[in-house]
Amino acid sequence: MKRILITGANGQIGVELTPYLRKIYGSENVLATDCREGSGIVSEGGPFSLLDVRDGKAFSDLMTSFRADALVHLAGILSATGEAKPQLAWDVNGNGTFVALECARANSAAVFFPSSIAAFGPSTPRRDTPQDTLQRPTTIYGVAKVTGELLCDYYHLKYGLDTRGVRFPGLISYEALPGGGTTDYAVHIYYEAVSKGAYTSYIAAGTFMDMMYMPDALEAVVRLMEADPSKLVHRNAFNISAMSFEPGQIAAEIKKHIPGFSLSYDVDPVRQGIAESWPDSLDCSAAREEWGFSPRYDLALMTADMLRRVGGKGR
Ligand code: NAD
Ligand code: SER
Repeated sequence: MKRILITGANGQIGVELTPYLRKIYGSENVLATDCREGSGIVSEGGPFSLLDVRDGKAFSDLMTSFRADALVHLAGILSATGEAKPQLAWDVNGNGTFVALECARANSAAVFFPSSIAAFGPSTPRRDTPQDTLQRPTTIYGVAKVTGELLCDYYHLKYGLDTRGVRFPGLISYEALPGGGTTDYAVHIYYEAVSKGAYTSYIAAGTFMDMMYMPDALEAVVRLMEADPSKLVHRNAFNISAMSFEPGQIAAEIKKHIPGFSLSYDVDPVRQGIAESWPDSLDCSAAREEWGFSPRYDLALMTADMLRRVGGKGR
């Protein structure tokens, strides 16, 4: 990657990935785009353009004029919002990804595509979910993610496009709030632990999901995109995760820092249903073996850092 165009750069991942890539590749070589104006971190640290990824002409023109050799395609509608607005979710996540791949093909650009644990469904093996397994997701978000994974494989096979990607677990971070997903509780809990000393979880006790701290996600993107292609057997849709926990476990870790912290439950049937359709824990051996995926943060390290960072924001 030398000149990178990022879509959906104002979201939870983009506000951190954009400056991270600018630091590595040079500010002028990373063009951030989004369909909305967003945070100063993204628009003031280097070039920024408004772009709706469904507008193929504007998308391709930008790729060409910027001379992008890589596309990091983050624009999307997350799982819970997707269930509230399935037609919009398909339009952005399904059609938008097709447009993105066509623009990359026209410009011979490499592609990073962020799939998700949502690409799995209730019939997928729940524990130690294999890299290659049954994928029959029951959310529109998951349907579009499987489609994106397959399209990325197809564009590589058919056109030789350098497509690569991971299945992100729930990402936990402090620069921007998450954008309407099912795993968001694992971010909100830290904010409310700091501001109120209490949190009411919409996810039920005992519901495990894979998670990862944002610094490990940023590192994984660059490591995969810079990996020796001859070592990549899978290329796309690598399972990656750093930890798996249920709400009670994250609360217990928070209590080590805030002893009076209390967790209660008011379960949201929609997000609970989505969570129950996803795996409990992924097998990430393919990512480790093929490109050296090795996350640094476990639940204890992440919790200490999150509480320090979120606490620091209030001062
Ligand atoms: P987010 O919701 O925080 O941000 C998405 C961004 O996309 C927003 O800034 C939004 O304005 C933009 N967007 C929406 N529709 C658009 C359109 N039509 N054209 C251009 N931009 C548009 O999401 P995120 O957490 O930053 O996730 C980025 C990508 O990573 C998504 O594809 C998501 O599915 C995937 N992912 C995220 C997680 C996670 O936990 N954050 C986990 C797995 C996969
Ligand atoms: N964090 C995302 C969501 O919950 C997973 O893809 O939608």
